[in-house]
Amino acid sequence: MALKEISKDIYSIAIIDWNRRLFDELIPLPDGTSYNSYLLKNQKEGLLIDTADPSKKEEFFQKLEESEVEKISYIVAQHAEQDHSGCIGEVLKKFPDCKVITNRKCLELLIDELHLKEESFIEIKDSEVFNFGKHKMQFIFAPWVHWPETFLTYLPQEKILFTCDLFGSHLASSELWSEDNITNYLAAKRYYAEIMMPFRKNIGKHLQKLKEIEIDIIAPSHGPAHKNPDLILKNYQEWVSDSVKDEVVIPYISMHGSTETMVKYLVEQLIKRGKKVTPYHLTNTDIGNLAMALVDAATVILASPTVLTGPHPQIVYAAYLCNMLRPKTKFAGIIGSFGWGSKMEQDILQMLGNLKVELLPSVISKGFPRREDFNKLDLLVDDIIEKHKTI
Ligand code: FEO
Repeated sequence: MALKEISKDIYSIAIIDWNRRLFDELIPLPDGTSYNSYLLKNQKEGLLIDTADPSKKEEFFQKLEESEVEKISYIVAQHAEQDHSGCIGEVLKKFPDCKVITNRKCLELLIDELHLKEESFIEIKDSEVFNFGKHKMQFIFAPWVHWPETFLTYLPQEKILFTCDLFGSHLASSELWSEDNITNYLAAKRYYAEIMMPFRKNIGKHLQKLKEIEIDIIAPSHGPAHKNPDLILKNYQEWVSDSVKDEVVIPYISMHGSTETMVKYLVEQLIKRGKKVTPYHLTNTDIGNLAMALVDAATVILASPTVLTGPHPQIVYAAYLCNMLRPKTKFAGIIGSFGWGSKMEQDILQMLGNLKVELLPSVISKGFPRREDFNKLDLLVDDIIEKHKTI
């Protein structure tokens, strides 16, 4: 059998999606992704943990055939989103006696999304133990990683934790079981930033719960496995914590150069004062990189020109994204410019309601910035320096 055996009678069925470049028609996937399902064997009988994206149905069933199991008796559905649940219906068609093991919330979602029948399910409770032949598994409910129904599956004998989206990465690789490396670290951080960051408080609680169990392998349903679980757990602990880094992130756009001149000045002054600062020109920015910068940065400055009295649509998008991702950023500010009139500042502020930030004084220039505008930017730099002393 060609499948990767990760422990005795436990196999990884990884479908690598080398060419996917967008997830949810929103999230850039510069490095593709993978849909990792897992197969537990009990002689000729199989239990699946998650399935695969429906677009990869043929490949998924081909791999299942390679496993040489005669039937699939159970599917543990840890998450209802279709990139993991999308082949459940087809598995049930092929193996009509197969049962889907999941919690009430996931069951309801799967009935709505995949039109499955209630009699196909075995409903489980938090901490419940299920035995499949010699395999013993315990279900650990972990809501909001990344939908309300999500849970993890722990094999105490083998010390393997299956985590679906949690600790995942959008990374297509032929080395999903290699040792941890910088590529894997960056992919995991990008994934956290894009998918998990809005749920940082929930994840913090789940991490506490995971301290109670011994883990040798973390096996997520996207990207590389973690054979050194302490490393990814430590990284997550840092990302979800309230501590921020002495860094400034500036998403910006400019139409005729006024706002860009202000951004360049602000960046130069911050660098001169020894601050780490990164401007993101939104026309050319991969929003995944911006999201990653938001994981740690203490301050975000949004910089926009005025379009028909409001912010530029690219800044509207960036502000919406910041608000949706709920980074732990402590300070925020707005700089920019206008020609004949502007309520850009108020419009942007209205879009940042989720952020628990202290607002820094805005600097808005009429036309091309003058000395007085640069003086205000100097004061903004002073302010940032002072505020960062408190982090
Ligand atoms: Fe990979 Fe939330 O699905």
